[in-house]
Order: sequence, then C-alpha cells, then structure tokens
Amino acid sequence: MLQVENIDLHYGAAQALKGVWLKAETGKVTCLMGRNGVGKTSTLRAVAGQHGISAGRILWDGEDISSLAAHARARKGIAVVPQGREIFPLLSVKENLETGYAPIARKDRFI
Ligand SMILES: Nc1ncnc2c1ncn2[C@@H]1O[C@H](COP(=O)(O)OP(=O)(O)OP(=O)(O)O)[C@@H](O)[C@H]1O
Ligand SMILES: [Mg+2]
Repeated sequence: MLQVENIDLHYGAAQALKGVWLKAETGKVTCLMGRNGVGKTSTLRAVAGQHGISAGRILWDGEDISSLAAHARARKGIAVVPQGREIFPLLSVKENLETGYAPIARKDRFI
C-alpha cells in the first residue's frame, strides 16, 4: 500500500531524514517507533505531502506520489492526525484519531 524509499528531508539547511525506508501493507497496522526528535513526524509529513522531500520517492499502491500536492494525496486516503497542541482539545482520543477518516467516503472507512 505505502512504500517509502530512501527519502531525505530538510528543514532549511538542517537535514532531518536521511535514507529512510518504510513499508505499510493493507490490513496491517504499521508502527513507526523511535526516540524524541528522530524523525517520526517528519516522515509522516513527507508521506502526507505537508513537507517536500529532497531525495528518494514515495509510492502509494505502486504509484509515485512524491510530487503530488497534499490535497491530492488526501483524496487517495492519506491523512495525518497531529500530536500535542495541534489536536482538537474538546474531542476524545478516539474522535481525534477518527478525524483521519475525513478525506475518504464512509463506506471505505475501516482499519
Ligand atoms: N519545523 C522544523 N524546523 C526545523 N527543524 C525541525 C522542524 N521540525 C522538526 N525539526 C527537527 O527535525 C528532527 C526530527 O523531528 P521530528 O519532529 O520529525 O521528530 P519526532 O521523531 O517526531 O520527534 P518527537 O518524538 O519529539 O515527536 C529534529 O531534530 C527536529 O528538531
Ligand atoms: Mg513527532
């Protein structure tokens, strides 16, 4: 479903990701783990198109989506639920997670 291949990501001159690979398969929950500041959020931003990559590529169902805008990736069902102060404070944890379903039709919403 999702294949991240050898991506680099920069914030200005600072390199946050170097040669990251990640694979997520349909029907499985994939967990990206690491210590603080290692680049988990940056990886998700790259997948969602919220921040550009400087090397590598991102495939969605075999299609290279590396240069697609964030809204075009959202239409394919790619969403990021933020952390920390970016959450909806009046929603529960479950409801916050469910906001990730927003771009896709109700009939397609499953885990
Ligand atoms: N907007 C930004 N501008 C500059 N550097 C940034 C920016 N966002 C993150 N970084 C840096 O990029 C690196 C990776 O950060 P990132 O937030 O992706 O890590 P993380 O694994 O999600 O961390 P945490 O466990 O704290 O959520 C860190 O060194 C961080 O300081
Ligand atoms: Mg993070």
